[in-house]
Amino acid sequence: MPAEQRLGPLLRQRFAGPLILCGGFTRDSAELALSEGRADLIAFGTLYIANPDLVERLQRHGPFNVPDRVTFYDGGDHGYVDYPFLSSHAAAQVQSTLLRALHAQ
Ligand SMILES: Cc1cc2nc3c(=O)[nH]c(=O)nc-3n(C[C@H](O)[C@H](O)[C@H](O)COP(=O)(O)O)c2cc1C
Repeated sequence: MPAEQRLGPLLRQRFAGPLILCGGFTRDSAELALSEGRADLIAFGTLYIANPDLVERLQRHGPFNVPDRVTFYDGGDHGYVDYPFLSSHAAAQVQSTLLRALHAQ
């Protein structure tokens, strides 16, 4: 188990409410954590940054774009709005939403 996931079981022992975990999860390790009752929900960070259509990719069991850590926290659009989508229709919808949000700031 990755170091960032070791806190989950300790929190579970001490907290009875709904528990959302994140940190180093893949589709398989997320499914395992949910089935073992270690969490009620799993969140994805870097995998979502690199895969704007992550839900569709999880449903299809991949393939997944690999996050490029060099572009994290960089301040520009690159690495946030230009990872490839599986489907060009979904790409057009999400990209226009992202660009509208960026230019509204
Ligand atoms: C570029 C980048 C930006 C992030 N920004 C935030 C943020 O604004 N707020 C937050 O709570 N977590 C932020 N995170 C942390 C993620 O939500 C998540 O906790 C972390 O990436 C671990 O999950 P992962 O292994 O699925 O990536 C950020 C992570 C990255 C890589």
